[in-house]
This record gives sequence, structure tokens and C-alpha cells, in this order.
Amino acid sequence: MDTNHRPDSMERITTTDQALSFIEEQVKQIRDQVGDGKVLLALSGGVDSSVVAALLIKAIGKQLVCVHVNHGLLRKGEPEQVIRVFRDEMNANLIYVDAVDRFLDLLAGVSDPESKRHIIGEEFIKVFAEEAAKLEGISFLAQGTIYPDILESEQGIKAHHNVGGLPQELSFELVEPVKLLFKDEVRVVGKALGLPDNMVYRQPFPGPGLGVRCPGAITRDRLEAVRESDAILREEFEKNGLSGKVWQYFTVVPDFKSTGVKDGKRTFAWPCIIRAINTSDVMEVTVEDLPAQLIDHLVQRILAEVPGSNRVLYDFTPKPPATVEYE
Ligand code: XMP
Repeated sequence: MDTNHRPDSMERITTTDQALSFIEEQVKQIRDQVGDGKVLLALSGGVDSSVVAALLIKAIGKQLVCVHVNHGLLRKGEPEQVIRVFRDEMNANLIYVDAVDRFLDLLAGVSDPESKRHIIGEEFIKVFAEEAAKLEGISFLAQGTIYPDILESEQGIKAHHNVGGLPQELSFELVEPVKLLFKDEVRVVGKALGLPDNMVYRQPFPGPGLGVRCPGAITRDRLEAVRESDAILREEFEKNGLSGKVWQYFTVVPDFKSTGVKDGKRTFAWPCIIRAINTSDVMEVTVEDLPAQLIDHLVQRILAEVPGSNRVLYDFTPKPPATVEYE
């Protein structure tokens, strides 16, 4: 039997009851596969890896070791949420790796987008492999592979392993409990497992994180401006009922400064660009038409709260010709 093929008879999971029976079935399968072995998981806090973590915690508890690598390019509050949900609430075996300086030092002065992505991907694998090497008795590697990853990998669009390809050389047996599910089904399962809504229904977030929203060479101060403005945008979208409605929304702080004036004095600071888009397949996107009042409020908050900013711009460009991300 081809275990990477979704059987035609498999119903689409849309209800809690369906999710609960999927969970029950998977818990049994995971226990059968793993026995009393130990399983390692790179837990980014994204939907797929979070759902896999919650499923495995339910099935094998402390036999799962989660590794959360903070590469410094996560959104505000994300590492804290991973620790709170998994270590504090689910009592998981969680290793938190603060690799912020390591990544930012390597990225310092690197302005080419592809080089930045490459460094982030490679370093992630290194950090993860180092953590794995410190552990004893691990025989399995869990991954949040989902069905579109398998389909795209079969069609040669992308390698199916998440997070830029996890260490093949670690040669563990794979545990991939959601590999036959589509994204919407993973969310229903996550909800049934008790994960918080802002983890289950989160917008897409690129692997290289805020790094691609800090175009050119990343500096710590500009990265902080991206993180703060992103947090403000998310908070305001949530308050205004847009967070579940708009597909993806974020801020970008480009690497140039312009003249402004504040309290009668000249300023020379970055602009903050807001991008909010809608799409069904991410091949073509349209721009969300934000209410003028909300734009006014965002402008005020960003200029008051984001150090180093003196303008707010809105990106009106669809895809094509612009991509969603700036790098
Ligand atoms: P683009 O910029 O290609 O983005 O129009 C399309 C969608 O893909 C996301 N994206 C990424 N996701 N790793 C990811 O996991 C990446 O390197 C990456 N680059 C773009 C982007 O956020 C959008 O949803």
C-alpha cells in the first residue's frame, strides 16, 4: 500500500467528531509505531508542527522531545507562546534554544535575499542537529508534513520536508501523523486537540520569518521595528474583526531613510510599509481595501510606538507583478 497516497474513500475532516476519531486512530498508530522509543520534533509554533506536537504529546507524552529554535526572526510573543502552550499547559518535554545572536551575527551585512534564506535554512539545520546530538536514545523524527507538501514534492515543485529540509543525515524513522491531511483539516484537528485559536488559525508565515520583511542586510534595530509594527498590525486587525477575514497581513521596514519632522526638529528615519492581501491559491493576490479610519489609527500607533519610523506607506500592488513577500 502506498502510505503517501490519500485514499479516495477518506472523508474530508470538517467536524469536531471527525477530528476526534482521527485523533483516536492516530494516537493508536503512533503508539504502535513508536513503542517505548523516543521521538524528536522541531516545533516552530506554526500550525502543522504544533498539531503534530499536540498529537504526539497525547499519544506518548514525555517520549516526545520538542526542540524550539528561536532564530530571532519570529514574531513578537511567538517563542513565549510555544513555551506557555507546550511546556506549561501540555507539560511537554520542550527544549528551548535561544539562537538569536548566532543567526543575527551570521546574517549581519548579508543583503542578497537568496543568501539570507540560505543562511537561515542551513543554520537552522545545524542548530537542530546539534541539539539532536546532545540527546540519547532518539529513534524517530516527527514532521509536520501535510498532503499538499507530498503532492508538491511529487510534482517536483518543492522538497516536501518542512523548515527548508530537516537533517537527512540524522537518519531517524519518520513519524508524520498529518501527512494525508489538507491544511483546513489540520486546523480542525488542532482545534479539537485544544490548541489556541491564534495558533490554529494563524496566517501563513514564511520559514525565514521576519528576515524577508527586513529587506537588505538585517540590523537589530530595523528588525525590532518590523516586529513591533507587525504586532501592532495584528492587534488592530484582531480588534477590528479582520484577522480571520484577510488572508495575510504584515509590515515591512525597508533599508532607507527619509526626512521628517517631529516636535519642530528634523528626523531621518525609516518608512513602515503595510501589506494586506487576499488570495485563494497565493499565485494571484488582490489587495485588501482597509477602512480609512483604521489606516489613520495604524499610522498614529506605528509612528508613536515604533522607534525609528517617520512614515507609514500602504502597498497597493497585486500579485502579479509583485510577490507577496519583499524578498
Ligand atoms: P510570495 O512572496 O512567493 O509568497 O508571493 C507566497 C506565499 O508563500 C509565503 N512564503 C514562504 N513560505 N518559506 C515559506 O515557508 C519561504 O521562504 C516563503 N517565502 C514566501 C508567503 O508568506 C506567502 O504566503
